[in-house]
Amino acid sequence: MSHHLVEARELSHAYPDGTASLSGITFTIRHGESVAIVGANGAGKSTLLQHLNGTLRATSGEVRVGELPLNTETLLEVRRAVGMVFQDPDDQLFMPTVLEDVAFGPRNLGLSPQESESRALEALRRVGAEHLAAKAPYHLSMGEKRRCAVAAVLSMGPDILVLDEPSTGLDPRGRRLLIGLLGEFTHTKLIATHDLDLVRQLCTRTLVLQDGRLRADGPTHEIFADHELMEDCGLEG
Ligand SMILES: Nc1ncnc2c1ncn2[C@@H]1O[C@H](COP(=O)(O)OP(=O)(O)OP(=O)(O)O)[C@@H](O)[C@H]1O
Ligand SMILES: [Mg+2]
Repeated sequence: MSHHLVEARELSHAYPDGTASLSGITFTIRHGESVAIVGANGAGKSTLLQHLNGTLRATSGEVRVGELPLNTETLLEVRRAVGMVFQDPDDQLFMPTVLEDVAFGPRNLGLSPQESESRALEALRRVGAEHLAAKAPYHLSMGEKRRCAVAAVLSMGPDILVLDEPSTGLDPRGRRLLIGLLGEFTHTKLIATHDLDLVRQLCTRTLVLQDGRLRADGPTHEIFADHELMEDCGLEG
């Protein structure tokens, strides 16, 4: 995929119970941008991110990744480009061991077992979790699970990284490691988070969601300086 573009056009979503979780969201994110998605609990951040790799499908409107509109035909290609770390690591880890989990993605991309394993070990090393390789994912602590979920996505070498609350539950060293390695990832990244300090360090642009709508979209320093906006959106402590 030549341009690692992520676009939403008039994207709306309603859950089966009728909850209108996204309404008319439009944005374009260009290659190499580092974008935060912030907003109060229930604002629609996770719902939005899950549209970017087709875990959820638009009720109306469109998502485009690279030159491709996201639909049934393009789903696999889009998922190869978009590495998604879910808010709940239990949605992501399902193999008997951490190593198998982190090697699963590269295996699916067609790499040999040896190459997949070495990629997996390298990704685990980068998140400071190589010592967990032989453990069962369901025996890990929450912070350990989150590190492994990040490794499972990094091991696939995605063009676009989408992370839902990646720093939640990490200890200070784990958080610093994460911020360091996300800073090294020079392709496009989107990060939904309540960790505004992480946003300041990593994201030049911020989208603010409020009740399923895109309330603001601009340079992080301008958004964060708008105290009225921040307070209105439940973002000031
Ligand atoms: N499976 C579901 N069925 C019905 N409603 C849902 C479902 N999942 C989420 N919602 C609703 O959709 C809205 C958006 O939820 P979402 O999880 O996207 O919020 P969020 O911004 O990620 O919040 P948080 O900061 O708590 O992670 C909320 O009102 C939520 O109650
Ligand atoms: Mg969420």
